[in-house]
Amino acid sequence: VNIKSSNTVWHHATVTRSRREQLNGHKGVVVWFTGLSGSGKSTLAHAVEERLYQSGCRTFVLDGDNVRHGLCADLGFSDEARTENIRRVGEAAKLFVEAGTVVLTAFISPFQNDRERVRALLAADDFIEIYCHCSLEMCEQRDVKGLYKRARAGEISHFTGISSPYEAPTAPDLKVNTDSLSLNDSVELILNLLRERSVIA
Ligand code: PPS
Repeated sequence: VNIKSSNTVWHHATVTRSRREQLNGHKGVVVWFTGLSGSGKSTLAHAVEERLYQSGCRTFVLDGDNVRHGLCADLGFSDEARTENIRRVGEAAKLFVEAGTVVLTAFISPFQNDRERVRALLAADDFIEIYCHCSLEMCEQRDVKGLYKRARAGEISHFTGISSPYEAPTAPDLKVNTDSLSLNDSVELILNLLRERSVIA
């Protein structure tokens, strides 16, 4: 990024990330959900968050539809706008990690490069990529928001999977087949991974 505010000085806090993590009783981490519209990203992120909250974790969900009402309200769906969307979300997620939070992000994040850039912003242990895999046919059949129908009718341009690409992760930390697994089983898979990675006990 071209940093335009060059005359600034970084402040070092005495309350550090590791002290916050100690207080919270768990580490901060980004759980990054990626997948087509309607693949279950938000549903899964919120269901995992509910379970984490119940076990005493500090959590937060950043969700595409919500973030695009505020932080990213100026961005549309061109390739460039999506790249900027994911860059901002990555930076926001990093702040949550510094705050010792388990931040769950639910964005289509269709481009491998953009996701890799977020991964690179963080330490290796701090980014867990979950690929919500659901066939385009199934997403389109479900069409919860009626967006696929409108995209097919030409009312929405640059629609992911129809008129804009989705680059599937080649090496996600976990691939969840949301078209065949129940929500509960999908949540368990993710919680198991978080246990394996020592995010939760
Ligand atoms: S991206 O690609 O990561 O920047 O997209 P994201 O911020 O996750 O926003 C996706 C949600 O925006 C709605 N929507 C669209 N999606 C894809 N393509 C187009 N053109 C589009 N227009 C609106 C849609 O509700 C997406 O939500 P999800 O939860 O993915 O269905």
